[in-house]
Amino acid sequence: MNGTTQPVRYRIRPARLDDVGGIFRLLQFYSDRGILLPRPESDIYHSLRDFYVIHAQDRIIACAALLIYTKELGEVRSLAVDPEYQNLGLGYQLVNQLEEDARGIGLTKLMALTYVVDFFEKLGFRVVEMNQLPEKVWGACINCPKFQRCDEIAVLKYLI
Ligand SMILES: CC(C)(COP(=O)(O)OP(=O)(O)OC[C@H]1O[C@@H](n2cnc3c(N)ncnc32)[C@H](O)[C@@H]1OP(=O)(O)O)[C@@H](O)C(=O)NCCC(=O)NCCS
Repeated sequence: MNGTTQPVRYRIRPARLDDVGGIFRLLQFYSDRGILLPRPESDIYHSLRDFYVIHAQDRIIACAALLIYTKELGEVRSLAVDPEYQNLGLGYQLVNQLEEDARGIGLTKLMALTYVVDFFEKLGFRVVEMNQLPEKVWGACINCPKFQRCDEIAVLKYLI
């Protein structure tokens, strides 16, 4: 809030090269706490065009990326909101933006691997068994440090 009763509005925009450091720091904050998977800076450069960011007070306060797996399926990746800016609707805004993009390019399903099931359920996602996800997802999982002891929960939303 901004000191009045009006909520502050934050603008989402596609990420730019000079956002990489800020995205990296935000994701690292959560990966240090075991909440998100660690992502090297080089990986953020590679997938920069998948990212949206929200910026305030000269720093990146929220980010998320859309990863495409198959003709039907995309994933919400690297969703993070700075702790000082949580519960202001930024997480919703980002997932809605990714959903709009996913629909726009013809994806029919959007998934996430997450610990915040309630957050995604409020957005219409439902919990699914990991084995309902296609092999391509598992292909990505093989490179994950948590592969042998994955405790994340898969959630899925049909976009049609
Ligand atoms: C999960 C996260 C992205 C939510 O972002 P946010 O901007 O605080 O969420 P919003 O303000 O948009 O909240 C939307 C709703 O989800 C709820 N919510 C927010 N965080 C939640 C959480 N951690 N667990 C359950 N529900 C949550 C809110 O109460 C709100 O509900 P309401 O509409 O009934 O009031 C943020 O807490 C975060 O960055 N967490 C750490 C990283 C993480 O877990 N990312 C997800 C990886 S898939």
